[in-house]
Amino acid sequence: MASNVVIMAAGKGTRMKSALPKVLHKLAGRSLLQHVLGTVSALEASQQRTVVITGHGAEAVEAAVAAPGLQFVRQQPQLGTGHAIQMASPALDAALPTTLILNGDVPLIRAETARSLLDACAGQRLALLTIELADPTGYGRIVREGEQVRAIVEHKDASPAQRAIREVYTGMMAAPTALLQRWVSQLNNDNAQGEYYLTDIVAMAVAEGVPVVATQASGETEVLGVNSPLQLADLERRFQRQQAEALMEAGVRLADPARFDLRGKLSCGADVDIDVGCVFEGEVTLGEGVRVGPYCVIRDARIDAGTQLAAFTHIDGAQVGAGAQIGPFARLRPGAQLAEEVHIGNFVEVKNSTLARGAKANHLAYLGDATVGERVNYGAGSITANYDGANKHRTVIGADAHIGSNCVLVAPVEIGAGATIGGGSTVAKDAPAGQLTVVRAKQLTVPGWKRPVKKAK
Ligand code: UD1
Ligand code: CA
Repeated sequence: MASNVVIMAAGKGTRMKSALPKVLHKLAGRSLLQHVLGTVSALEASQQRTVVITGHGAEAVEAAVAAPGLQFVRQQPQLGTGHAIQMASPALDAALPTTLILNGDVPLIRAETARSLLDACAGQRLALLTIELADPTGYGRIVREGEQVRAIVEHKDASPAQRAIREVYTGMMAAPTALLQRWVSQLNNDNAQGEYYLTDIVAMAVAEGVPVVATQASGETEVLGVNSPLQLADLERRFQRQQAEALMEAGVRLADPARFDLRGKLSCGADVDIDVGCVFEGEVTLGEGVRVGPYCVIRDARIDAGTQLAAFTHIDGAQVGAGAQIGPFARLRPGAQLAEEVHIGNFVEVKNSTLARGAKANHLAYLGDATVGERVNYGAGSITANYDGANKHRTVIGADAHIGSNCVLVAPVEIGAGATIGGGSTVAKDAPAGQLTVVRAKQLTVPGWKRPVKKAK
């Protein structure tokens, strides 16, 4: 259904004790406000106007989330939620009969819930999202007469009897656009906090005979707001738990759903095992039977079927073919493209390099800007010197070449197929295929040499 959406994000977030505006703090890798905007775009309304009310840190907030079609309204100073909607009122599209109000610091509101608020309003009723809380302290209470909602009374203005009410307003509502605009223009700040309360429009609706309906939230998680680092961490764990459960329902085996972090999108084939403490960022695809050892950090990567990532492997912007063995303590950086059955061992770094099927670099090595042929064995401690201080150059290693330990391949340089490079060589010129190339001082033994001894004083 076509509607206006207003996201309130002007508040200071004092309890975060942070220079960063509250709604820009991150939950699962995205800002709180981005979560809300993501939900809004999932509403898939063909005509929708989205207005974000900014105030504290307005410039930073606007710069962080600016997108085509998104409007910003500044509320300066912040005189309450009713005042916020007064500021947004001229930006609403009068042709859209319903206006949905969300909070920039309530990140996990579900699209289904937002949709049911819109449906409950349908341009005619005032629809409030409510929830019953064991401890309603601080919230606006839903005051009813019989079944009928009569008003919302803010905690600070509530009588002892009203404070005993456990049904509270979550801060989210859908209202008929024209009525909302008129109601907020009639608000006053004659209350305990001297603020313009948006919640006062409930009593106005009741007085005018406009139906007020309460829609119950599905659970606490989707209506919880973030006001402090503790609440942010609590919501992060709830969100991670939801993601972990969805993956496990799809058959992914997580060693411990409480020690799993997904900050993006993870797609898994069948029989994927993920050990404890792993972090997935951006877009990651794990093929069938992939096993991820403990404490791996994997970002924007595709790992094909049957590959094993051992403990403490870091992967960023890389692709790994099927049946490969990576780690422990391996680092694959952007542009690493590994074919099937490649082995990368401990303390090996690969950047912007292609390794063909069966190539191995098992210990303490660096491959940067390299093209490595099939079955190459790249020895312990060897590196590509790919950077001359100004430009990067490529190293090409032909199939079946054997690079000894502790070699320096000074790019641009080419090692022919089947070549062997003796350990400790610094190779600055191309090495021919199929032959042994050694670049190092000849071993010398000095006959009769004596160690110096200390002179007597
Ligand atoms: C509000 C509701 C209360 C409800 C609670 C749910 C009012 C008067 N009260 O409480 O009934 O139970 O939310 O959390 O609406 N904001 C602005 N400009 C302002 C003031 C606030 O943009 O001038 C934004 C804040 O950034 C926040 C949201 O509005 O995103 C709610 O503000 P907050 O102060 O947390 O809510 P309360 O007024 O305490
Ligand atoms: Ca307030």
